[in-house]
Amino acid sequence: MTVQVIATKPFEGQIPGTSGLRKQVSVFKKPHYLENFVQSIFDSLRGKDGKTLVLGGDGRYHNAEAIQVILRMAAANGFAKVMVGQNGILSTPAASCVIRKHKAFGGIILSASHNPGGPDGDFGIKYNTTNGGPAPEHMTKAFHVRSTEIDSYRILDGGSVDLGTLGTSQLGGMAVDVVDPVADYAELMESLFDFPRIRELVSGGKLTLCFDAMHAVTGPYARDILVNRLGAPESALLNATPLPDFGGGHPDPNLAHAQELVAIMQGPDAPDFGAASDGDGDRNMILGRDFFVTPSDSLAVLAANASLIPGYKDGIAGVARSMPTSMAADRVAAELGVPCFETPTGWKFFGNLLDAGKATLCGEESFGTSSGHVREKDGLWAVLMWLNVLAARGESVADIVRAHWRRFGRNYYSRHDYEEIDSQAGADLIQNLRDTVPGLAGKMLGAYRVRAGDDFTYRDPVDDTRSHNQGIRVLFEDGSRIVFRLSGTGTKGATLRVYLERFESDPTKQDMDPQDALADLIAIAEEVAQIRERTGRDAPTVIT
Ligand code: G1P
Ligand code: ZN
Repeated sequence: MTVQVIATKPFEGQIPGTSGLRKQVSVFKKPHYLENFVQSIFDSLRGKDGKTLVLGGDGRYHNAEAIQVILRMAAANGFAKVMVGQNGILSTPAASCVIRKHKAFGGIILSASHNPGGPDGDFGIKYNTTNGGPAPEHMTKAFHVRSTEIDSYRILDGGSVDLGTLGTSQLGGMAVDVVDPVADYAELMESLFDFPRIRELVSGGKLTLCFDAMHAVTGPYARDILVNRLGAPESALLNATPLPDFGGGHPDPNLAHAQELVAIMQGPDAPDFGAASDGDGDRNMILGRDFFVTPSDSLAVLAANASLIPGYKDGIAGVARSMPTSMAADRVAAELGVPCFETPTGWKFFGNLLDAGKATLCGEESFGTSSGHVREKDGLWAVLMWLNVLAARGESVADIVRAHWRRFGRNYYSRHDYEEIDSQAGADLIQNLRDTVPGLAGKMLGAYRVRAGDDFTYRDPVDDTRSHNQGIRVLFEDGSRIVFRLSGTGTKGATLRVYLERFESDPTKQDMDPQDALADLIAIAEEVAQIRERTGRDAPTVIT
């Protein structure tokens, strides 16, 4: 096998978004498209020669083919070893775990997260650094810059690896280690949680559960952990066989897309606990019987109860949440006497805080929760954290959350998405807000007085870098907020996200439907952003 240097030309738009480069499969299948971007990553990395790379993906359509290409490119670009998940599988949090545990140089994860898969679906690629976390902005920008000037890539002229068989083989001069995608991750989970106590409840049926893997990557992880290690019956798993097209579904764990689970969780005979995870296993949705836990509340409840969990019994250093995530966690942090950091949307912004030991728990409103055990959000970790809290407290999900509201107050919260709107209309809408919201300060909108309006800028307290234009905020004097931003993960047109939040301290008013509780703010958002007029839409496509 020899190294070939293949001439190529740049592709437009190889720009990593909120979480890596995400495009339709048809784009990734264009000759040289994947290779150009992988070479752009490799060219931007300093000191990779002789090092180890971790490689795996969420098993979606095109995963296996792309893995073989990347293996041949890694061998031609000086890596000494690649650790690849068996059958090309590694969930995003498991990849982070493997990078950290084996002190790899970095990793490539093939995933478009919760976006649909299959020949007409999406594909994606992201690079994670030595700390196991997503490449920071200065690196993703470098990948893009390199992609605009690339004129060749390096690849072995042949050879492939049997991804089905565990063990080490050679590809050119490089070692390829096919590893069990679950083992290291499951071991890490076992070190954080009280498995014997959870097992006692789950295996004896005292606590019944249902986990929906949505035909995506977490099936094998859930079987190993929930069934084999914790003794849940196999019937507790739903859609646990990973499929390249996710069974035609949209593997996004929310009330809109995980309807099968939502239906199971209703009624007196429903399980005590329900959960789902997304395409690559980093998101989670938590349900009780007839009860939905918003991701923002989940972060706050887990922070308030962390000291009950073995892995966090000595307390947490701090909490971090993305800016649009509700401020419920801030109240817990204040009571615990630890800082709460507000970062831009996207997990990459948590990395520095976790590395510096400033935060222990992190979360996003978009069904992402995790801790310093890895540098990614982690769906099954959140499930186990909840199971451990349930085991330690002996109360139902709904009772725990309602007690939390009584103690800390309730942050009514909702996100309205307008998907696939015209890209220019979306950009114009945001620009108009950027121009006008600062001028709203002091004015009344409905019953709410505006305290300030801006476009969020983040200053990283660890390395002092700034990230501008991270979301338009309309902040009201009573602490309510409306946030507007465009998605950085969509692949068709633009997606407008509108985040709405209102705080309610009165326990007698904490049981409303959030859409009713937020009705005034929803109307104000429509008016301020001129959504109907600018997008032609009179209702959101997805409400979470
Ligand atoms: C979305 C979520 C964001 C999350 C990202 C990756 O990004 O809003 O919180 O980190 O997916 O899962 P967006 O499409 O809003 O840019
Ligand atoms: Zn994901």
